[in-house]
Amino acid sequence: MRTAPGERLEVLVRAQDIQSRVQLLGQHITQDYENKELILIGILKGSFVFIADLARAIDLPLAVDFMAVSSYGMSTKSSGVVRIIKDLDESVEGKHVLVVEDIVDTGLTLNYIYSHLKSRGATSVKICTLLDKVSRRQIAVPVHYKGFEIPDAFVVGYGLDVEERYRNLADVCQVVQS
Ligand code: IMP
Repeated sequence: MRTAPGERLEVLVRAQDIQSRVQLLGQHITQDYENKELILIGILKGSFVFIADLARAIDLPLAVDFMAVSSYGMSTKSSGVVRIIKDLDESVEGKHVLVVEDIVDTGLTLNYIYSHLKSRGATSVKICTLLDKVSRRQIAVPVHYKGFEIPDAFVVGYGLDVEERYRNLADVCQVVQS
């Protein structure tokens, strides 16, 4: 893919590896949620590619909803306080919620979303992330389904961006300044 001036992309996780991992996650989720009312909640914007593939790898009747959040700013981000930009369309009460996230970094955003959804009367709340930067974690969040653990590098592609660029890459790549 063409890059912005001064940027080079290095593939960290190949598209075909992502695809096989997503199929496997879909099989596990299918087994775990059989006969349960499942709702996938994608966290916008980064999860839009992952949730599209994951939903099709799950062989169950399910619902899909989205939330968008943003941090209040640098000072409050460290406390994990986030603002809901787009809330859910449907109630999660009595449903089994699976949060679908692109990447867990410090864990602050997901920690907030997790507590928020639990307080809304969901029967269960679990987390599925494509990528996990374990070494960056500041707060423990329960990650139930995980695609890949990656090192502490800024990555783009498969939904992830830098200033809105590269979300449409099929691979997950590291951006290198050249
Ligand atoms: P956390 O609250 O620090 O866990 O941040 C999670 C959010 O930060 C993710 O949902 C992404 O939007 C963003 N993020 C963290 N690391 C990266 C990265 O390497 N590339 C792109 N976005 C990232």
